[in-house]
Amino acid sequence: MTHDVEGGPGSPIRGHLTDIEPYEPILPLDALSERCGVPVDRLIKLDGNENPYGCSPRVRRALADYPFYHIYPDPQHRELQEPLERYVGVGREHIVAGSGSDELIDLVLRVFLEPGDKVIDCVPTFGMYPFSTTVCGGKTVPVPRNDSYDVDVAAVKAAIDRRTKVIFVASPNNPTGNVTPKGDILKLVETGVVTVVDEAYYEFSGHTVAALVPKHPNLIVLRSFSKWAGLGGLRAGYGVFPVNVAALIRVIKIPYNVNIAAMIAVRESLADADYLKSNVKAIISERKRLSDRLKEQGVLEPLPSEANFILCRVLKGDAREIKHGLEKKGIFIRYFDRPLLRNMLRISVGKPEHTDALIEALAPWQGG
Ligand SMILES: Cc1ncc(COP(=O)(O)O)c(C=O)c1O
Repeated sequence: MTHDVEGGPGSPIRGHLTDIEPYEPILPLDALSERCGVPVDRLIKLDGNENPYGCSPRVRRALADYPFYHIYPDPQHRELQEPLERYVGVGREHIVAGSGSDELIDLVLRVFLEPGDKVIDCVPTFGMYPFSTTVCGGKTVPVPRNDSYDVDVAAVKAAIDRRTKVIFVASPNNPTGNVTPKGDILKLVETGVVTVVDEAYYEFSGHTVAALVPKHPNLIVLRSFSKWAGLGGLRAGYGVFPVNVAALIRVIKIPYNVNIAAMIAVRESLADADYLKSNVKAIISERKRLSDRLKEQGVLEPLPSEANFILCRVLKGDAREIKHGLEKKGIFIRYFDRPLLRNMLRISVGKPEHTDALIEALAPWQGG
C-alpha cells in the first residue's frame, strides 16, 4: 500500500500539520544583501532584535582555541550549571539550557500538551508560541492585550477552561516592548495554569520573576543569550522551572541539544558579563536617543520600550512603503499590518550611526 505523503485523507502525515502556518523567519544576511544590492558589511540590520555589538571577544577567542570539536558535548551541560545558577540566583536543580529559548518553548509544550489542549497567547506577541503549539498538537487561544498592550488579566482568566494547559506571557513583550508587572503575573499563576514568562529581553528591562519560580509549582521563566550576549547565531537559552519539570525536561530533550560551541559561548559570556552589560547599557541609552530622534522627526511615533527594539505607529505614509523604501538603502526593519498592529513598524536598537542613517533615510516622509 502506498501512502500520500502530500497530506490529506489516507496520508500518514499527522492531520494537524498539513495546514500549519510556517513561522516567518528573518532573512539571512546574504539574502538581504542580494535583495537591496548593498554589501553585507554595510547592511543596517534592525529587523531581528539582534545585538549590534556582537558577542564577547572572549567567546571568539575560546571558540578559536577549542581543540575537541570532534567529541560530543555533555548532555547535562554540567560546566554551565554553576555559572548559570550564579547568574540567575536560583538553584541549578531548576535550570535547564537549550538551543535558544525557542527550543525551551517547544519542550514546555511537549511536557504539558495532550492533543487538543489549549494554550493562551496574549496577542500581539511572539510568533513561536502558536507555531510550537500547533506542532505539538495543541490549540492556540489568542487573548488580545488592551489598548496599551498590557495583558488583560481578567480576559485571560475568563478564557481558561479545563483544556487550558499553558499561558504564555513575554515580558518585555515582542513586538510591543512593555513589561507585565509582577502583580499581574502572580494573578495568572494563581489560576493554577502553567504560566510561562518569556524573559528573552530581561537584561534590557531589569524586571524578572525568576526568583519566584521555586515558590510556585506552575511558574516557568525562559531566558535567552541571543539578545544581551549577542549569541543569536549560536542558539543558546535556558529555562528556570519547578524542580520536577526541570528533571523531566532533562530526560525528554534530545541529549546533545546544546552544542559545544554554544556551551563555550555561554560559559565565556557569563565570565564576561560586565563587558556584555556595558553593551546592554549602550543599547538602552541608544533606545532613548532613537526614540527622541523619531519623536522630533514626526514620521513615526515610537511607543515606550523596555527591550532592545521600539514599536512605532506610522504618522506619515504607509508602514509597508516605508519598510520597502528603507530596504532599498540597505536598512531592514519589521513591518506589521494585523489586528492591534495596523500600519506599524518595529525597529531594533542599533549603534548610534545606525540611528543616524535611519533618521536620514526617513526624511523623505517628513513632508507627509
Ligand atoms: C519573546 C521572544 N522569546 C524568545 C525568542 C527566541 O529567542 P532565542 O534566540 O533564544 O531562541 C525571541 C526572539 O526574537 C523573542 O522575541
